[in-house]
Amino acid sequence: MIAIGIESTAHTFGVGAVDEKGNVLANETDSYKTESGGMLLDQVAKHHEAVVDGMIEKVLEIVGTENIGIVAYSAGPGLTPALFVGFKKAKELAARLGKPLVGINHCAAHLSIGEITTGTKNPVFLYVSGVNTQVISYEGGKFRILGETLDVGLGNALDKFGRDIGLGFPAGAKIEEMARRGKYIVLPYTVKGMDVSFSGILTKIQNLYKKGASPEDLCFSFQETAFAMMAEVAERAMAHVDKQELLLVGGVAANKKFCEMLQIMCEERGAKFFKCPMQYCGDQGAMIAWEGLIRFKEKRFITEINPYWRVDEV
Ligand code: ATP
Ligand code: FE2
Repeated sequence: MIAIGIESTAHTFGVGAVDEKGNVLANETDSYKTESGGMLLDQVAKHHEAVVDGMIEKVLEIVGTENIGIVAYSAGPGLTPALFVGFKKAKELAARLGKPLVGINHCAAHLSIGEITTGTKNPVFLYVSGVNTQVISYEGGKFRILGETLDVGLGNALDKFGRDIGLGFPAGAKIEEMARRGKYIVLPYTVKGMDVSFSGILTKIQNLYKKGASPEDLCFSFQETAFAMMAEVAERAMAHVDKQELLLVGGVAANKKFCEMLQIMCEERGAKFFKCPMQYCGDQGAMIAWEGLIRFKEKRFITEINPYWRVDEV
């Protein structure tokens, strides 16, 4: 059986396909981007509307229609106008193929694709994307959030600062590049148990930038501080649930410095660090297809959208 997965929670639209072993057969993505300024909600939906049909046809051409068993889509969490585009098209495709429609949780999909592509078994998950920054462990048949950001997600914090200094959207990769030339400035380090907060850092660097501090120094210091905070909470979580594997998923996993710091932390405690392969870290359809297969077999899925669906409610 082949599963089709449609991703449409935020700025990336994706259509992917996987088989029952988790082999990725197709994975097309197209992201809404800007040169300067942030993401405009109605334009995101317009972008998705414009690319969806071509992308679905392309994936069907690659995998054929005869073995498709389900059509999965990300039902949430996400931006409602964006979610509706994917939901509507998934529903149409499921009806056209006469196959079940399987609505799944986008965050759980990030975790599941990370597990199948790295071969980890029951790791502590560090899920760091635009919106989400969470430390998660699978306990007693469900995902438990051990710690998370108390305000903005790390990716969004990076993007917000990137917008302030004119880097366009998304800004994570550009900030990483600029950080290579920066020096350290002390910034607010906010860890509470296994929770973190980035709003203090953001306010501080915005103010320092206005006062003429070097953007390179601010990018470097932002990264150093935020990544150290994440390494601290990941380590605490691993000790707390007594697990020897850490799996990093989500778009911020693209950051080499971040991975290096987590790798060192894991080595120092005799644990193993895994990173979801880059092509499956950001939002894409293959992870939706794979999570769809898992939940279809468990009969745990929905057929509507849920913009505020937390991973611990799956
Ligand atoms: P979610 O709904 O799961 O939060 P998302 O669409 O917000 O998903 P992803 O696609 O998983 O997020 O990741 C996008 C984020 O990753 C953006 O905030 C982007 O700036 C950040 N990012 C991408 N590359 C890098 C990098 N090299 N360093 C730091 N951050 C990065
Ligand atoms: Fe995501």
